[in-house]
Parts: sequence; C-alpha cells; structure tokens
Amino acid sequence: MKITKAVIPAAGLGTRVLPATKNMPKEMFPIVDKPTIQYIVEEAVAAGITDILIITNRGKGLIEDHFDASPELEAQLEKSGKTEFLETVREISNLANITFIRQKEMKGLGHAVLKAKSFVGNEPFAVMYGDGVIVSKTPAIKQLIDCYGEYGEGVVGVKLVPEQDIHKYGSLKVENLHDNVFKCTDMKEKPQTKDEVLSLYSILDRCVLPAEIFEILERTKPGAGGEIQLTDAMREIAVTKGMTAVEFEGKRYDMGNKFGILQAQIEVGLEHPETKDQLREYIKEIAKTL
Ligand code: UTP
Repeated sequence: MKITKAVIPAAGLGTRVLPATKNMPKEMFPIVDKPTIQYIVEEAVAAGITDILIITNRGKGLIEDHFDASPELEAQLEKSGKTEFLETVREISNLANITFIRQKEMKGLGHAVLKAKSFVGNEPFAVMYGDGVIVSKTPAIKQLIDCYGEYGEGVVGVKLVPEQDIHKYGSLKVENLHDNVFKCTDMKEKPQTKDEVLSLYSILDRCVLPAEIFEILERTKPGAGGEIQLTDAMREIAVTKGMTAVEFEGKRYDMGNKFGILQAQIEVGLEHPETKDQLREYIKEIAKTL
C-alpha cells in the first residue's frame, strides 16, 4: 500500500533549548537559511508523501504562517525583480497539502499522535518528529517506507546511541534480518536500570505505523515522565506482531538540543554553496586557537 500521509508532531515545549523557545518554536530554528520544519516537510515530499498534518500548540502559529502564502512579500520581490527569492518563497506554500491541528495539553508524543486519528483514517502513515532533521542520500522516511513495502509491518527508524545516553531514549530488542534491517520484538522507553536496557538501538525521529496504533493509544496510560508515550503503544505491536527496525543511512540533527543545533549549522553550512568556502576557512582559523 502506498504511503501518502505524514504526521509531524511539533507541539513539544522545547524546554531543553530555553530561553530560545520561550516564544519561538524550535521547529522554526534555521539551519543556515531554512527552518527545521521545512527540511522535514521536504524530506516527506521527496519520499512521495502528499498530505501532511502538523501537530502544533498555542505558541506555534509561526509554523502555520511559514507554509502559508505571503502576498506582501511576494509582491515586493516581484516588484524588485528578485525572481530567485520569489520562487523560493512561492515553493514553500505549494510543497504539499499541509494541515494543522492543535494539541491542547502537552501530554506527550503518544497523545500528540492520537490527534491525527481522523486525518489518517485506516491507512499506514509516517510519523516524523518536528525537531529531528535527517540529511541523507535517500530520504530517511523513504528508507522506512521501502521497508514497510518489504515486510508489511510497522517500521521504526533506529540508530545506535552511546551507552551513557540510552536512559534518555527508547531501547529496542532487535535481531538482524539483513544488512541494516532488524526484527524488533520489544521496546522500553527511557530505561532506568541496566536490566531494562534491551540494546543500544533506539528509535530516532521516524516511524511508519499501522492505523491500529490509534486504538492502542486510546488506552495507553501515562508512562515515563507522566506522559503518554508513543513507544509504549508501539511496544504492544512489537511484542504481538513484531515490527521492523531500519538503521537508516543519514546524519541526524536533534534541533531540540543545544549541541545538535550547533552540529547542524556547522555540517550543513560546510555543504551549502553560499557558505561552505568561507566557513571552512573560518573553522581552520579558529581551530588554531583551540
Ligand atoms: P521531545 O521530548 O524531543 O520534545 O519530543 P519536547 O517535549 O519539546 O522536549 P523538551 O521539552 O526539550 O524536553 C519528541 C517530539 O514529540 C513532540 C515534540 O514536538 C517532538 O517533535 N511532542 C512531544 C509533542 O508534539 N507533544 C508533546 O506533548 C510532547
């Protein structure tokens, strides 16, 4: 079945990057010259997604404005003959069918995804976290969608995380199927003891889920941090039917984390045609003083 819908949860408070997120959604933080959320929407579109639901909250109107038309700006750019910028601005509002829904209370990622129930209907769909940018040759979500096509079961995008950090993530019980593809039969969100750690493979920012996740989420009780955890709902599918885990190719930047933001600026800046030469020289210079 073709996957055409994506849900982007973007209602988190971004407390790890306060005070920047006091009034500014972290999803609008730029990497060089493009907001985080636009990278994610472009990844979805490149993977064949046509309909996107972004889950926001009261403080995130800027995200809605970014994907809307900008008649005044467009008129001004047209008048001044800045056609290149005009194209760039117009393309943003025509990327996909983008709709928004608000999560009224911040009860966790699982609670946010449940808001997508009527948008999704009865089809498998993609989930792409609004603060996780993945730069890759093949769009990361496409790598997961291809795996859904191969095995027909829910897919999670995974990477190995450092042992000292696994307690901040979800830990997965996995068995290699081939290459970078694994069978996942159990998961534990934010393991607190060594016994709870199933492996150092963790879900990072991307999943493809069957619609049955909604019925499970409706009865999922708050878990780690008192929040309704998507991992707890996915676990039910993993232990009963199994899920597939793909160690996706690509570099992931956590834009909800101070160091992730810095890494993204430097690494994307070193590839950007307008900044790469100057930035390389600058880094070489500054490295001499370290
Ligand atoms: P995170 O835990 O990374 O985001 O959630 P956060 O809640 O903003 O983090 P803090 O405050 O710095 O600790 C993963 C994803 O789930 C979304 C976030 O926006 C992010 O994309 N999320 C989280 C929601 O949409 N709603 C929630 O209630 C919680």
